[in-house]
Amino acid sequence: MGIHFGVDYYPEHWPRERWETDVQLMKEMGVQVVRMAEFSWFKMEPTLGEFHFEWLEEAIALLDSYGIKTILGTPTAAPPAWIVRKNPEIQPIDREGRRRYFGGRHHDCQSNPVYRAHIKRFVTAFAKCFANNPGVIGWQIDNELGNSHGDLCMCTSCQQLYQKWLKRKYGTIEALNDAWGTTFWSQGYNDFIQIGTPMITAVGENPSAMLDWKCYCSDLIVNFADWQAEIIRNICPNHFITHNFMCFDNKVDYYDLAGLLDFVSNDIYPAGHWQKQPHQPESELAASHDVVRGYKKKSFWMMEQQSGMAGWEIMGRALEPGQMSAWAMQSVAHGADAVIFFRWRACAMGTEQYWHGILGHSGKPGRIYNEVKKLTQTFTKYMEDFEGSMPCPEVAIVHNFRQNYALDIQPHHPQLRYVEQLQKYYKALYDKKIPVDFVQDMDNLSQYKLVIAPLQYLMTPELEQHYMDYVANGGHLILTMRTGVKDANNLCMTKMELPGRLGMLCGIEVPEYDCLLETTGGVLYGKKEYQIEKWCDIITLNGARQIAEYSTGFYKQTPAITENKYGSGIAWYIGTEPGEELMEDVMTYITEVCEIETLGTAGDGVEMMTRESEDKVWLFVINHTNDEQIYHLHGRYTLLEGEREEALKPYEVQLFVGNKRR
Ligand code: GAL
Ligand code: ZN
Repeated sequence: MGIHFGVDYYPEHWPRERWETDVQLMKEMGVQVVRMAEFSWFKMEPTLGEFHFEWLEEAIALLDSYGIKTILGTPTAAPPAWIVRKNPEIQPIDREGRRRYFGGRHHDCQSNPVYRAHIKRFVTAFAKCFANNPGVIGWQIDNELGNSHGDLCMCTSCQQLYQKWLKRKYGTIEALNDAWGTTFWSQGYNDFIQIGTPMITAVGENPSAMLDWKCYCSDLIVNFADWQAEIIRNICPNHFITHNFMCFDNKVDYYDLAGLLDFVSNDIYPAGHWQKQPHQPESELAASHDVVRGYKKKSFWMMEQQSGMAGWEIMGRALEPGQMSAWAMQSVAHGADAVIFFRWRACAMGTEQYWHGILGHSGKPGRIYNEVKKLTQTFTKYMEDFEGSMPCPEVAIVHNFRQNYALDIQPHHPQLRYVEQLQKYYKALYDKKIPVDFVQDMDNLSQYKLVIAPLQYLMTPELEQHYMDYVANGGHLILTMRTGVKDANNLCMTKMELPGRLGMLCGIEVPEYDCLLETTGGVLYGKKEYQIEKWCDIITLNGARQIAEYSTGFYKQTPAITENKYGSGIAWYIGTEPGEELMEDVMTYITEVCEIETLGTAGDGVEMMTRESEDKVWLFVINHTNDEQIYHLHGRYTLLEGEREEALKPYEVQLFVGNKRR
């Protein structure tokens, strides 16, 4: 598409006289695209049916006269007050039965037919007005779908839709009663109309019902997006449609959502004010980009890349010189074709006054502006060359929203989080400079030398077979604690000892287990004792070889990690959560057995990543620290951008190109 850098722009926040200065400054900085209008419903329709798109048309024309294209956002994440006054029933209801009112954003119910009628009217007019506008290239549906208050809406409209969804899924109420195990605590239903949304209970909740509710909520969001996209698709067949995702966020199954988009976009705020550390660790950011690339198995756009200090009531850290550029190029290294910075200029009003942008409140170009200018001047030309290219990792980590939902419902250990668990495995590979793909469990795995499938908690006969076939045909698979515990309905498996048929694959059985709560445990691996956390599966060998044993608990000297040859492949079972050191050492061993290539060697804070086209490999070496660093590459590449090979200045990003090996 030839577009690689942009900004999120809110011309309506500033006087008309300022616009041209903004656009000139953008042009000089290297901006090729803006996203606009995703929160401007009131400006565009101040009263029912009275449309005012002139101001936006003017802004688009001005931008276009400087060669800057526009992406328009549908403003459906913030319906105006007049709609809410007219139809208060569109405001969502939370689990405690309270309404969430106007005054922030996301005060809407996505199933409500009255709200959908308002959207249909508005989005139709919006799309018609801009269908043939030469400045407009595409659309963003809504904004960060799923990023609302804690629970999705529990209103009567949602309840009715949920009942219909359940009826479609189960057919008969008897089938639902079985799937939810409603015999327990007298929870049986005689009819679908008796089923409510999961409002706050006196005590406890049904894990099977909760799993369906989360899946239903995801389906509702996907339906909401698809329904809006359809309106636009019909009117603007030449425009692309995308949506801004939030990394690993899980209110909606992003694989489903990705299906209806031309490409996926992502939002990332590494130094968000909510971060426990000054900023999110680079390995976690890298994993976020990799999972986003995995949602559609396609390169993506960054729709909001942090460009200034982040804050609402509380603020995060200021960005060090070069830090933001390193994060932006990290996005690119992992598959972003375009980077749009949030936001052009810090806003003088509203909740996000302190969510800073490229320009500060004064609007004067300063340090960050100059940094972005340098970035676009350096990298735009290369991004043109590798647009659409993808990393080609040898290792995949399995990621699945249903597992995430089930473990959110019952985390077992107070601190166990599905995504964090994936991140721990990811980090060990990241530190070794080994690129990773995220895949869904039933994807074809045969291209990967190693597949890591943590917490395969919900299991189906098809998935068991899929893993067994992968290993039988020469694959290397890591399974971990809590595998094969439940069926697809979130009911416990009862026919076999854990981990079910996968016990044959791994050559083990897990008849017992232990939750470590606030204590930690130990294992012996090689001659060393290591720390483990959270959980211990108590394992008996059934053909497997023990490679580490517990050194604590009544089960000490029993297997903690096992290895089993199966067909022409190997299956490892890791019955616990390895501490960082054990993770590192075990992953060194396993990646060596699998003959996984590493891109190079370097200290912490130096990242290496590649994107590949038919015949070329682009290698990125990124210094995420404020210190000088040295590194060494495995493989032959030519330096395209950078000061000096094998050495990095603080926050320096180097780019290499090489020939693809066949
Ligand atoms: C994103 C959102 C933006 C803005 C930004 C800063 O989550 O899409 O509209 O709110 O965060 O808070
Ligand atoms: Zn609702």
